[in-house]
Amino acid sequence: MTHNDIKWQQHTTDAAQREALFGHKSAVIWFTGLSGSGKSTVANALEQALVEQGKHTYLLDGDNVRHGLCADLGFSAEDRTENLRRVGAVAGLMVDAGLLVLSAFISPYRNQRELVKSFIPADRFIEIHISTPLEVCEQRDVKGLYKKARAGEISNFTGISDPYEAPEHADLVLDTSVTSLEDSVKQLLQLLTLKGIIS
Ligand code: PPS
Repeated sequence: MTHNDIKWQQHTTDAAQREALFGHKSAVIWFTGLSGSGKSTVANALEQALVEQGKHTYLLDGDNVRHGLCADLGFSAEDRTENLRRVGAVAGLMVDAGLLVLSAFISPYRNQRELVKSFIPADRFIEIHISTPLEVCEQRDVKGLYKKARAGEISNFTGISDPYEAPEHADLVLDTSVTSLEDSVKQLLQLLTLKGIIS
């Protein structure tokens, strides 16, 4: 079967109806940054704050997604692209479902983040750069991976033996070595309000 044999099915319930049901807009809040920069921590705290406000959310996290949906993928440029293509497609479906989707992936290459964006309506994609410097991430080394990467035991490690291309036009830049978790969440909630996603 070719793609020409597959036709899009138009359903009668749409994203706008689902949003109306939930009482807020849907969007993807995309966290990008080095391993250990604080993506998961900040995304988790933001999700908690949103849930406490009664919002409908889902947090897609790199480490967790790689246990299932992307368990067959490694860290070559090709595998990372496929990882993010799948996650982008899933995030697009979740936006259609009316959810506030938070995602925490290194997503190191600009073209990979562009690929993700292609699945999401432009006004529903919010990019957050967790810009914590490499030196701080390496000093934290929560999972001991930087030590292994420096010892050559892990190849293609972002920031050490693989590039990280910082976003040029992120909606918000947060450095968790100088901004508290509480302040980060406050800034994120303000941004979502300013963009009319939540009220
Ligand atoms: S990517 O680049 O977006 O596809 O990566 P992601 O799916 O977010 O997975 C990143 C987590 O995998 C662990 N890990 C590595 N990271 C970077 N490079 C290499 N080679 C690598 N190998 C394993 C690491 O724990 C990342 O977790 P975080 O939460 O970012 O620290």
